[in-house]
Formats: sequence, structure tokens, C-alpha cells
Amino acid sequence: MSILITGATGYIGSHVCIELLSSGFDIVLIDNFSNSSEDVLDKIKSITNESFSFYRVDLLDIQDLRRVFNENNIQGVIHLAAYKAVGESVSNPLKYYFNNVYGLLNLLTVMEEYELRNMVFSSSATVYGKNISPLTENMTPSTNNPYGNTKLFCEQILKELHISNNDWSIVILRYFNPIGAHESGKIGERPLGIPNNIMPVIVQVATGKLQKLLIFGGDYDTKDGTCVRDYIHVVDLAKGHIKALEKTLNSKGLEIYNLGTGKGYSVLELVNVFENISNINIPYEIADRRAGDVDICFAEPSKANKELNWVAEKNLDEMCIDTWRWVCNSL
Ligand code: UD1
Repeated sequence: MSILITGATGYIGSHVCIELLSSGFDIVLIDNFSNSSEDVLDKIKSITNESFSFYRVDLLDIQDLRRVFNENNIQGVIHLAAYKAVGESVSNPLKYYFNNVYGLLNLLTVMEEYELRNMVFSSSATVYGKNISPLTENMTPSTNNPYGNTKLFCEQILKELHISNNDWSIVILRYFNPIGAHESGKIGERPLGIPNNIMPVIVQVATGKLQKLLIFGGDYDTKDGTCVRDYIHVVDLAKGHIKALEKTLNSKGLEIYNLGTGKGYSVLELVNVFENISNINIPYEIADRRAGDVDICFAEPSKANKELNWVAEKNLDEMCIDTWRWVCNSL
């Protein structure tokens, strides 16, 4: 019996695979390498000393997907594969709806064909829109861009599927801001092309690929005027998936959980911690606000703490230490 992970070689997927293998699960990985590369597979092997199956599959190709289910005895699915760049989703919404929504529909269709009804789904704190932090799972969601809408639509599809057949067991995880890297220094975040998220941009400034960091907005109503986010170590986030998976394997129902630390740090605080850890100066300039950014976004993580018996353990220093180790190792 195996667990299928979609988007398995991505930043979050690769850390989830390591935690699954370390917890004794057999795993089948799929990815189309749209934002990752093949060498991640060797890294996962070398960190865990475990073997696994990999298929280069695009979720939009349902026949390829059927072959994966046909050739393996899949017991549960962790669905991470999706595009996630807000700006690109505004300029190319169809790309986002096809990949994120149609990809999920294909996956669910094949799962129904095989009567496999367990899923952990990767959602985002973006669905909270302008709600006031700390954010709780029962708040009314809203989004203002196609990427966020794809996450919201996918959540809705899963809710309606569960209503149609209560044999489904689904956990929706709303991620806050994952940063950091595996402590081995062998894997971490390596987006293809121009990065959107803050940590890969800071890293590119630290390594000289970018001259300076543009901080999007210095006049927010926060302690220092820059936006506040709930940064969570990617390994803590990955461990949350194991707890969520166990829940889907052991009970029926649909639950939504925040995966965050419950603490908010401003962009400037993050930059300061990174500078102290790396001993490198990060030149920055305060630029215009980025469309769609909210001023403050942090989780109320107590539902996941209580019901999944999960807690984010690593602090911002550890997130920056592990990021920096990974960056130095891969230079
Ligand atoms: C972003 C997305 C969110 C998505 C998540 C994962 C937006 C508005 N939100 O979250 O929907 O789920 O990524 O992809 O894009 N920042 C800078 N300079 C930069 C980059 C970022 O100042 O070059 C700031 C941002 O304004 C923000 C913070 O850093 O305040 C974090 O940004 P980012 O890493 O992009 O995450 P989110 O915006 O929280």
C-alpha cells in the first residue's frame, strides 16, 4: 500500500516525501517538473536511504494518471501539484484554472474510479482575503485574484464531493508562509525563473544575483510599516501533512486546518534575522505596495494543535539558519 504525492519534487513536496519515508510509508511520486527539477529525486534518496517510484506525469493527462493508479496499490493521496504565482494568475487566468482546478478534477475522477477516497489537499492562507488576523478556519473566505480563486474553488469542490458521498475522508491544509530548508542542506526552495516569494528573493540578493530587495510597501499599519506574515519552517509544514494523512486514513469526514505558527513577523524583521544569521548585508528599497497584499496575515493554529496533535516547533532563526545552509551548500 502506497501514498501518492502530486507535485512531489517541488519545495513542499520534497520535504513531505522525506517525512513520509522517515515515518515508514511507501510512496509513489508524480510531478511534471513545471517548477522543480529531476535531481530532487536523488536528493530525497540520499537523505532517506529509501527507495520509491516516480512518474513524470501531468495531471491534465488523465490516461497517464490512470496508469499510475493501475500500477500501484494507492492507499491515500497528498495533492500538492499547483501553480502559485499570484501575478501570473492575473495575466494568465486560464493557465491557473486549467492546471489547478482541472488537475484536481482529473485526480478526483481517477480516485473515484478506483474507489479511493482519502485526500490531503494543499490550500493557502490566501483564501482568508481581508479577514483580520489571527485567522481561524471558520472565517468566511474571499480572494481577489485567479490563483486564490482556484484554491477556493478546489476547497468547494472537495466540500461538495464529501457531501455527495460521506465515504470521503479529506483534510484541507491552509498553509501560511513556508520558508527554511531541510537541515541536511540538500534540499530547499529553488523556484525556476524569477522568484515571487520573499525568501528566494532575499537569497538572490544575498548571493549577488539581485542587487537589492524591493520591499513592497513601507506605510502599512504595522509596527514598522512593512507587511506582517506567519513564516513557518517547511519541515514543520511537512510534518503537518503526515498528521493530516493519518487522520484521513483513520477517520471519515472533511476538516480544514491552518498550518502556521501563530506568530507574525514583518518583512524588515525577517530581513534583519536573515542578515544576522548569514552575516550578509541585504540592501533594500521601500517600493510601492504590491497589488493584492494584505497588511497582516497570521494563523490561529490551535485547531491543528489540538485535533492533529501538531505544533510548529522551529523559530525564525532556525528557518533562516536552514535556508542559509542550503544556499551555501548549493552555491
Ligand atoms: C504569496 C501569495 C499567496 C500565496 C503564497 C504562496 C500574494 C499577494 N500572495 O503570499 O497568495 O499563497 O505567496 O505562493 O502574492 N515581499 C516583498 N518583496 C518581494 C517579495 C515579497 O516585500 O520581492 C513581501 C510581500 O509584500 C509580503 C511578504 O514579503 O508582505 C511575503 O511575500 P510572499 O513570500 O510573496 O508571500 P505572500 O504574499 O504572503
